[in-house]
Amino acid sequence: MTSVTSLFAPVETDLDLLTDNLKGLVGTRHPILSAAAEHLFGAGGKRVRPAIVLLLAKAILPGQDISAKHRRLAEITEMIHTASLVHDDVVDESAVRRGVPTVHSSFGNRIAVLAGDFLFAQSSWYLANLDNLRVVKLLSQVIMDLAEGEIQQGLNRFDSSLSMQAYLDKSYFKTASLIANSAMAAGVLSNLPEATINQLYAYGRHLGLAFQVVDDILDFTGSDESLGKPACSDLKNGHLTAPVLYAMGQHPGLATLIDREFSQAGDFDQALELIHRSDGIAKARELAAQQAQSAIACLECLPASEAQTALVNMVDYVLRRIS
Ligand code: IPE
Ligand code: IPE
Ligand code: MG
Ligand code: MG
Repeated sequence: MTSVTSLFAPVETDLDLLTDNLKGLVGTRHPILSAAAEHLFGAGGKRVRPAIVLLLAKAILPGQDISAKHRRLAEITEMIHTASLVHDDVVDESAVRRGVPTVHSSFGNRIAVLAGDFLFAQSSWYLANLDNLRVVKLLSQVIMDLAEGEIQQGLNRFDSSLSMQAYLDKSYFKTASLIANSAMAAGVLSNLPEATINQLYAYGRHLGLAFQVVDDILDFTGSDESLGKPACSDLKNGHLTAPVLYAMGQHPGLATLIDREFSQAGDFDQALELIHRSDGIAKARELAAQQAQSAIACLECLPASEAQTALVNMVDYVLRRIS
């Protein structure tokens, strides 16, 4: 398996710098927020999103130093992502993230909501300071999309009539929008031609969708330890993801269990069994692989370089997490 370390090698030192900066950027005005930031940024997320921005910056101008604006954009993406996770964990009542207790379980819901808001606000401040209106618009759209995605997901809980298209739309809002728009923003900061900028957006969109489908598969196949967050929690929360949607097509009884929100003894275990007995997980794997293929094709717009290869391998890494 391509390890994250070898994959990120071209930008490893840049990513270490980014982690240190992120802890500093949150500021020291509020001790409890600093504690939350230290806790989150020190906990070792995979840093996939900033790595993509930094690798793109390198791939766009091979052999040259990454610009200060690209570095700041990478920090902003991780800040926005982390803010969304803090809120997501409140909504999902999730106790563990990145292998450590979540902000709300350590500091309470009130602090977690405020800490997430603070991170979003702080990211907007740094975003505005990039002095590039187009980039401000792209990343502000992401923050709206994240909220839209959480709202859609909240409204569709236990709705067995959810369509695959609605699931993909929600996944775009929750996950792919950030990767797509920040990839596009990296191109905008480098003044790339419009056609290339659009290809970078498409790379991020396909990669983001593959990433979410894989995350949704891992929720069924991974363990708390390997994921650093609770496994098997989506279905319990009524979040119907690709494996479930495919499985419902094969086992209509599954919809009945979902519709009554697993209210009878044994319902949940029976639902899990039906999903594992179906082709749901295998079909979801195919869906992720198709998105991954499309993502790789978009990278042809960049010249061959070590960073461009790493971006191709990034797609591979996302997929291999489930093989
Ligand atoms: C988790 O993202 C949320 C999803 C979009 C599935 P990551 O898996 O990138 O989380 P961290 O940043 O590594 O903790
Ligand atoms: C994406 O999806 C998370 C956000 C973009 C907030 P999930 O809800 O699947 O994320 P996890 O599984 O809690 O990390
Ligand atoms: Mg969640
Ligand atoms: Mg998940």
